[in-house]
Amino acid sequence: MNNKPIGVFDSGLGGLTVVKEIKKLLPYENIIYLGDTARVPYGTRSKDVVIKFSFQDADYLISKKVKCLVVACNTASSFAGDLLKKHLTLPVFDVIKPVAEDIKKNRRERKIGIIGTKGTISSHAYKKAILKKVSKVSILEQACPLFVPMIEEGEIKGSLIEKVIEKYLSVFKTKKIDTLVLGCTHYPIIEKEIQNYLGKKVILINPEKLVAEDLKKYLQKNRMLTKSKRKGKIAYLVTDISQSFLKVAEIFLGTKITSKVTKVQID
Ligand code: DGL
Repeated sequence: MNNKPIGVFDSGLGGLTVVKEIKKLLPYENIIYLGDTARVPYGTRSKDVVIKFSFQDADYLISKKVKCLVVACNTASSFAGDLLKKHLTLPVFDVIKPVAEDIKKNRRERKIGIIGTKGTISSHAYKKAILKKVSKVSILEQACPLFVPMIEEGEIKGSLIEKVIEKYLSVFKTKKIDTLVLGCTHYPIIEKEIQNYLGKKVILINPEKLVAEDLKKYLQKNRMLTKSKRKGKIAYLVTDISQSFLKVAEIFLGTKITSKVTKVQID
């Protein structure tokens, strides 16, 4: 059981930001990453479709005998996280729960902004999860649909992204938030630019880091860590390999993909 891989899925390649964090904390674990690149983005789709796709992603990884499942995609976590936890028999980790717990445990700040895809924001999943844990907070949500395509096009520095950051985030400046949840796999890539715009005092919460910590704690507590002391391997499974695949993957992973990438059919 312990030496089985960790399954991670995302709508596409953005979830590699989560893989990067898991690798840092759990270097000996093997990981199977499934990116549904044929059907990305999920962030613009309806709840029902995202739920259907998420179960297909999960079932595929379960068929590969993973020991647990990490829902790296914020949109999938928002619409399907609770349902996956309810219906699947293996441990499921989403990016929402650890953010709500972090705010409860570690933060005294009480004016919280949340950014994400249209799907994530319309679900109010972060807001609901935070309000369950802490009272007396004000929460302001903002969808930022242009960030995902811009980041995938490598538009991550300079005046164009700065303009779009201002377009979406100026409301947070006006309302003087003290904390911002980066509720999308892609946003850590422009974290510095967001911080520069909002100023140093605003705390940015990165769900990718928190879900990796949540996973590590669980595996330790339940004695599910691998016994291996060799560097873990990552298998990359995707539902489509586009021309820009390697370039986009590198943006999120921070390094080149060196292992094999396999195209799979999941529906
Ligand atoms: N992975 C998605 C998320 O974190 C962003 C890309 C998409 O819309 O599919 O919400």
